[in-house]
Amino acid sequence: MSIGCLWAAENLSIFDPVSKPAESIRTLTYFLLAVTGVIFVLVEGILVYNVFRFRHGPPDGAAEPPQVYGSNPIEIAWTAAPGLIVFIMALVIARTLWEVNVDPHTPPKDSRPLRVTVIGHQWWWEYVYESDGGRKLGFTTANELHVPASNFSKPGERRPVYLTLQSADVCHSFWVPRLAGKMDLIPGRSNTLWFETDQTGLYLGQCAEFCGAQHAKMLLRVYVDAPEKFEGWLKDQEKPAVDDPAVSKGKNAFLSRSCVNCHRVDGTSARGTYGPDLTHLWSRQTLASGMILKTRANLRDWIADPQKVKPGCLMPAFGLSADELDWIVDYLATLR
Ligand code: CUA
Repeated sequence: MSIGCLWAAENLSIFDPVSKPAESIRTLTYFLLAVTGVIFVLVEGILVYNVFRFRHGPPDGAAEPPQVYGSNPIEIAWTAAPGLIVFIMALVIARTLWEVNVDPHTPPKDSRPLRVTVIGHQWWWEYVYESDGGRKLGFTTANELHVPASNFSKPGERRPVYLTLQSADVCHSFWVPRLAGKMDLIPGRSNTLWFETDQTGLYLGQCAEFCGAQHAKMLLRVYVDAPEKFEGWLKDQEKPAVDDPAVSKGKNAFLSRSCVNCHRVDGTSARGTYGPDLTHLWSRQTLASGMILKTRANLRDWIADPQKVKPGCLMPAFGLSADELDWIVDYLATLR
């Protein structure tokens, strides 16, 4: 079970943004680093200079240096100068906040916004696809978010993404550094997050608010697909679950077990909403919220004893027989 290959060579740097809000944050970071860097070099420079210059102490009989205690001009200067610096930083931060927190109800003119509700769970992500350029969607998926890439040169092909962030249990935080800043998912309220990019690819992120035992393994995967590829993905996700008679044994085993209390498979009696929707499980690349690659062996290990793979996770082992495990894996692997 390799975790390394899921992360190797993946870029999580805030200094390599591919979307407007992440660019604004990088610009702000450079500005703050520059200002604080100059102050640091100045203060440390004077400190180090004095440490070496005066390390032997004054010669005998030397006069005291001039005393400036209570000097009004100096007091005013070293109060006003930091005040002014802080004020300028506050203005720049406010401007960045303004750029990053756009109103989700006023997308760019002629754009086709995608709207998705993100629900944080201990310890996975639920994605409810609400609408695509005004067309109602209404399917649910988990852990791997697919969005379309924009074409900035054609006004009709801009595809901003608006996320509504909610939580089913405790506070979580959605953070995909190359796309946007952090935004918390707070029980009982809705936050919003926006990004738009023309760079296709996979962008990784991570829950950024401690949320319990498996917080560190609440991984984010955002696939920015070329428009045609995204349309294809959307069409597949809107289809009901595959119903292959060749795996009816596994389907029956799945439906007769407690799996159905937590998981949903569209078109079957499995209607649980506590765990990830499995209608198109096999169209994903990973399992257990981006923790392990989606392979039959990994899925089998996972179902056999989830606690061994992700200790503390809310799915228990059900003591299935080896045959039942094989059948259920056979069934789930047909859910493309
Ligand atoms: Cu969810 Cu940390």
